[in-house]
Amino acid sequence: MPSLHHLLEQNERWASEMVARDPECFFRLSHQQAPQYLWIGCADSRVPANQITGLAPGEVFVHRNVANLVIHTDLNMLSVLQYAVDALGIRDIIVCGHYGCGGVRAALEGKPLGLIDNWLRHIQDLARQSRAELSALPSPDARIARLCELNVIEQVLHVAETTVVTSAWARHQPITVHGWIYDVGDGRIRDLGVELSSLDDLERHRRPPV
Ligand code: CO
Repeated sequence: MPSLHHLLEQNERWASEMVARDPECFFRLSHQQAPQYLWIGCADSRVPANQITGLAPGEVFVHRNVANLVIHTDLNMLSVLQYAVDALGIRDIIVCGHYGCGGVRAALEGKPLGLIDNWLRHIQDLARQSRAELSALPSPDARIARLCELNVIEQVLHVAETTVVTSAWARHQPITVHGWIYDVGDGRIRDLGVELSSLDDLERHRRPPV
């Protein structure tokens, strides 16, 4: 018996139930995908994009990494983004972080974890930029929670600054970048109110020049 047998069994059951509900669903999905949303989220196992938004297979294009980072030179992320915008014509891009993010916590605590420290360095840079705001908070947990939010806002800006999105806006292709945060403690998503839909929006949200 193969290991992970239980997962294959669960898959068999799930596929049968899907067909029982909608006999054509896999036929349709095998011919095309037409998702309306691109989700950029954390790799954390507690934050599955489809389940927490109630979306079915085919409805959301997903990119996840540790701490939902959008790094300017990350070819993996850029390829997902370019395909989503140019080929799939996605209009809404959601950056969704989450409270209690282990990546954000590790970055703030600074305990060495190995290779991943290099990835988390980006969050440490952000923590340094936000030192005044973070140090005014009463507890380490409050600082981690706020840094989780600031990280989402920063990554929304990074999405908007990519050549993929700025070029799309320049040719008047409608795209909105949203910043959300999920609470693993109650299952609720909060909109952080940062929403960019144009080059003008980006300009308004850009940090002042240093
Ligand atoms: Co996380």
